[in-house]
Amino acid sequence: MKRVPVLLSAGLILLTMSCARPAGSGKVSNHPRVDSLMKVMTLEEKVGQMVLFTSDWTVTGPSMREGYIEDIRAGRCGNIFNAYTADYTRDLQRMAVEETRLGIPLLFGYDVIHGFRTIFPINLGMSCTWDPDAIGHSAEIAAREAAAAGLHWTYSPMCDVSVEPRWGRISEGSGEDPYLGSLIAAAMTRGYQGEDLADPATLLACVKHYAAYGAPQAGRDYNTVDMSERWLREFYLPPYKAAVDAGALSVMASFNELDGVPATANEHLLQDILRGEWGFRGFVVTDYTGIPEMIKHGYAEDLRDAARLAVKAGIDMDMVGPSYFEHLVELVRSGEVPMKTVDRAVRRILEVKAALGLFDDPYLYCDPEREVSETLTEDNKAAARTIASESMVLLKNDGILPLRKGERIAVIGALADSKDDLLGSWRGAGEVKSVPASIYDAIREYNGPARTSYAEGCKEFGEDRSGFARALATALPADKVVLVIGEDCQWSGEAASRTDIHVPGVQTELLERLKSMGKKVAVVLLNGRPLDLSKESDLADAILEAWYPGTMGGYAVSDVLFGEYNPAGRLSVTFPRNLGQVPIYHYAKNTGRPHEDPEAKYESRYLDVVNEPLYAFGYGLSYTSFEYSPVSLSAEEFSGDGFISAFVTVTNTGDREGTETVQMYVRDLVGSVTRPVKQLKGFRKVTLAPGESKEIEFKIDAQTLSFYRKDMSWGPETGDFKVFIGGSSDNTDEAAFRYEI
Ligand code: BGC
Repeated sequence: MKRVPVLLSAGLILLTMSCARPAGSGKVSNHPRVDSLMKVMTLEEKVGQMVLFTSDWTVTGPSMREGYIEDIRAGRCGNIFNAYTADYTRDLQRMAVEETRLGIPLLFGYDVIHGFRTIFPINLGMSCTWDPDAIGHSAEIAAREAAAAGLHWTYSPMCDVSVEPRWGRISEGSGEDPYLGSLIAAAMTRGYQGEDLADPATLLACVKHYAAYGAPQAGRDYNTVDMSERWLREFYLPPYKAAVDAGALSVMASFNELDGVPATANEHLLQDILRGEWGFRGFVVTDYTGIPEMIKHGYAEDLRDAARLAVKAGIDMDMVGPSYFEHLVELVRSGEVPMKTVDRAVRRILEVKAALGLFDDPYLYCDPEREVSETLTEDNKAAARTIASESMVLLKNDGILPLRKGERIAVIGALADSKDDLLGSWRGAGEVKSVPASIYDAIREYNGPARTSYAEGCKEFGEDRSGFARALATALPADKVVLVIGEDCQWSGEAASRTDIHVPGVQTELLERLKSMGKKVAVVLLNGRPLDLSKESDLADAILEAWYPGTMGGYAVSDVLFGEYNPAGRLSVTFPRNLGQVPIYHYAKNTGRPHEDPEAKYESRYLDVVNEPLYAFGYGLSYTSFEYSPVSLSAEEFSGDGFISAFVTVTNTGDREGTETVQMYVRDLVGSVTRPVKQLKGFRKVTLAPGESKEIEFKIDAQTLSFYRKDMSWGPETGDFKVFIGGSSDNTDEAAFRYEI
């Protein structure tokens, strides 16, 4: 198991992000077999290596190719996704290796997003652990399970920064912050790829969706993305780059356009930045039918034209296509696409196959015994339970949590007794039958059946109130109610945008009814996006954001509710007061008219709601409390390559052990371009016994202060700065310092 230490200083973290030994060796070598193959492959065989078809097992898009088996046999398709199990992949691999002229092994890909068989919390949930080590460990487990089922390649990590709660896929990413997102992207890459890609317990990572897919206009999936180059580079590109720096050897182009050019044919993204600036040496795959979609984008005339544009821009592999399959041979023969473009792509793909060890043993990953022994092990499930508890964010607690064992507890809500919803969307090969307990099951098991009751109340959507009476009757004798509400798990993920981010249906009405009976109600939320919780935050006595917590999620919720685990999750994304505040994020600029005077009209503000979010980035409660000393600095100025340290002492002032996430933000007061009022630059998780104090040190160096200056060069500027340290982006103490270049 590889664990990557969380480092102390922002500068150090950045340094480590770029210098740490890349995962899976992070490099491709010139494998002798690749050289010899390149000499004898026909053009048709080369194009076959650039084709990726889906099997008929799972599809996410409009078209699916029948007859992919014949294509494999004929050497027309060198890569397959959505096929797994050791036996099935062995059968397909045998066709490629034994029945084609050159016997080039197939590459098998799959969406292993937050686990394969053992399902971890959705990625947005995991990011709320602020624990890249633990997230990296979940990726390592996912890789071990998936690789034992014949897979070589996962379409993860998803590195899309997003400030858009309408967008269903915000659930698949790590939230709004590029710094936290970068640490997670790198940790996941290392978790998947391990030290050696040819180790059959590892997977090839795929950095997606490159780029800026998380910023669709109006939050509608696949919609237009447009932003300044500066904003793109500072807030959207860092996690993709961090994954590339960590050694990821494949990248997926996104569906969206950027600055008028679909990412699938975007030379600026694919050539200038990815290969030119970042030195990426693996291969680039499209997203599902990304090439044909350029016709509808209005960027390509027809499929042939789309294939030409994509290959010339630097797309090495066509997912589903069938653009390369149908047109690439002829495009080369006609001279419109140079042979060397195809050769370069094929070599990149074959070198990755070599790095995976497939030329040494094409069946390396198809091992039915390992498939059983590595899957859903007790260790894997224990890790899933721990990270699920760590991912939960306690948003409100008037003191009714933790629950006490033996209290009469009424558990209410359709989601409370759903094993299916615990898994969330993109659940890999996770199955409901592997979920040992729903939330209700787990609470009943812990609290005893005699003191635990259940009623559905209502579904998680729709207007049906017919279950209210029974739910209220069930709640009546109870000391406390646990009301589990939120979104159906298929309401987030791909193609699951919403224009309304309230808790759906009549669930909040049920909360109102329970409260009007005078009941103490702890709300547990299952959802995949920041919701508008303005009503719930008024009504409920406690709110636990549990996301979709995975295979062991029922137990993890119970662990947190009963205080077996003291909640420590912190929001990785801002929760607005209402949709009108969106986009809202912690690294906003000040504007020329910041809202300072409550009476003033002509300031940057709303008439109907305050500017502040309901729950800020970095926020989360614990069953204990923490106090911070004022921030002190080792010096009030520094220069050049030097550094200063900022210190705080954090004390656990409650009566139980707890973990605090100490966060450091920085503001550059005057820049050659304007700077955010607060920007996350470092954090530390610290566990303290009751009464215990610890001094935390953050180093601040030139890297901490760097940004894209007016001339687009990356670096710091001379001037005055502020550092903010605290337990949430909206609850910090500050100190001032000066930096001279
Ligand atoms: C999604 C990708 C996914 C691919 C393959 C697409 O629809 O956007 O995230 O990796 O399908 O399943």
